Amino acid sequence: MNRRKFLLLSSLAWAGLAFRGNGIAEAQQISKRSLTLRDIARGSGYDIGCAMTTSRFEDKLFMEAVRRECSCIVAEYQSKRHVLEPSRGMFDFEGMDRLVAFAHKNKMKFRGHTLVWHAANPAWLVAELNDVPKEGGLTEYIAKVVGRYRGRVHSWDVVNEAINPADGRSDGLRESIWLKAFGTSYIDMAFHAAHEADPNASLVYNDYNTEGVWKYGDAWRSSTIEMLAGMKARGVPIHAYGMQAHLDPNDRPIDPKVLANFLQEIKDLGLRIQVTELDVRDFKLGRSVEEKNRIAAETTKLFLDVVLSLSVTDEILTWGLSDKYSWLNDSKNAPFYGGIPSPLPLDWKMVRKPMWYAIAKSIAVKTK
Ligand code: G3I
Repeated sequence: MNRRKFLLLSSLAWAGLAFRGNGIAEAQQISKRSLTLRDIARGSGYDIGCAMTTSRFEDKLFMEAVRRECSCIVAEYQSKRHVLEPSRGMFDFEGMDRLVAFAHKNKMKFRGHTLVWHAANPAWLVAELNDVPKEGGLTEYIAKVVGRYRGRVHSWDVVNEAINPADGRSDGLRESIWLKAFGTSYIDMAFHAAHEADPNASLVYNDYNTEGVWKYGDAWRSSTIEMLAGMKARGVPIHAYGMQAHLDPNDRPIDPKVLANFLQEIKDLGLRIQVTELDVRDFKLGRSVEEKNRIAAETTKLFLDVVLSLSVTDEILTWGLSDKYSWLNDSKNAPFYGGIPSPLPLDWKMVRKPMWYAIAKSIAVKTK
C-alpha cells in the first residue's frame, strides 16, 4: 500500500474511531486535512457525485463543495421530459445545457436522468399516451435528446422505475402510462432508441426499493431480475442496473446476504451496478442528531461495502450533497416527525458528517 493510501486510511480509521465518541467534533477536525471524496474515488477507480440543479449555482459554499467532492453530476429534475419538452415539439435545453457545461468545465462526467418515467411528464404527453399513443412520442424524443448530448453524457437512465409488484401484474411491471400505451415492449424500444442515438453511452435501468427488506422487497428484486434477464436474452442494449439507494434503516433495513444475492444475480447477467441516488432517510422520532448521523453512516457503509464487493460499480452518486438541499426536506413526513432530515454526506454548512466518512472508507478500499 503506498504512503498516500496509508495516510488516507489511517485518518479515516481515526474518523471511524471518532464515530464511537460523539464523533462530530473530531470528524470535523479531520475533515480539514482529509482528501476529498473525488480524490479517494479516483484512487480506487470510481466516479463520485451528486444530483444538482442550476439554482444551486448561486450558493458559493455549496458549489465549492461540489467542485471539491464530485467527479460526476446528474440533473435532479432539469433533464426530465416536463422540463425538456414542455409542449410537443417545443424544447427547452437551457437548464441541462448549463449543467452539462458546468460538468465539463470542472472535468466531471454527466449522467442523464431520465428518458422514460411514469412521473415528471408534461401534460400534453400524458394526454397523448392516454388517447392515441404514437411510438414516435417515445423513440423520437429519445433520439433528439440523446443525440443532442452524444459524447457529452456518459450514461443515461433510459427507463426509471418500471417495476411495481404492488400493481399486481404477474411480471411485477408497473401499470404506467407507457405500459398502457405500448405494452411491455416500451422498455426495449427505449433502450434501442437510446443506443442508436449514442452507441457509446452506458444505458442504465434505474430503480429503487430493492435495497432493503420490506413487504414488496423480494418481489421487487425477483421481478427486476426477470425483466433484466429477458432484456439480455433479447439482445437489448442495456449495460447497467442503477440502484437509487434511498436507504431507510428503520422501515427497510438492509440484510447483507439478501442484497448480495440480488446483486450477484445482476452481475451474472453481465450488467454493471451503479449507485445513482444515495441518501438515508430517518424520520424516527426522538433520535439525537448524533444518533441519526451514526445510524446514517453505519447504514451507508453496510450498503456500499456489499455493493462494492461485487466489483462491478463505476459510479456512486448521492441525491444532493448537503442536507441543505435534499428532496426529503420537502417531504410530507419531515415536519410530521419533527426535525429536518439529515440524509446526505454534508450538513447545512457543508461540513462533513459521519456519512461522508462512511462513503470515504467504503470507496478507499479498491475493489475494482
Ligand atoms: O422550482 C422549479 C420552478 O422554478 C420551475 O419553474 C418548475 C418547472 O417545472 O420546476 C420547479 O422545480 C421542481 C423541483 O422539484 C423543485 O425542487 C420540479 O418541477 C419538480 O419536478 C422537482 O421534483 C423532483 C422530482 O424527482 C420529480 O421530478 C425532485 O426535485 C427530485 O428530487 C425527485 O427525484 C426523484 C428521481 O428523479 C427518481 N428517484 C426518486 C427521486 C426522489 O423523488
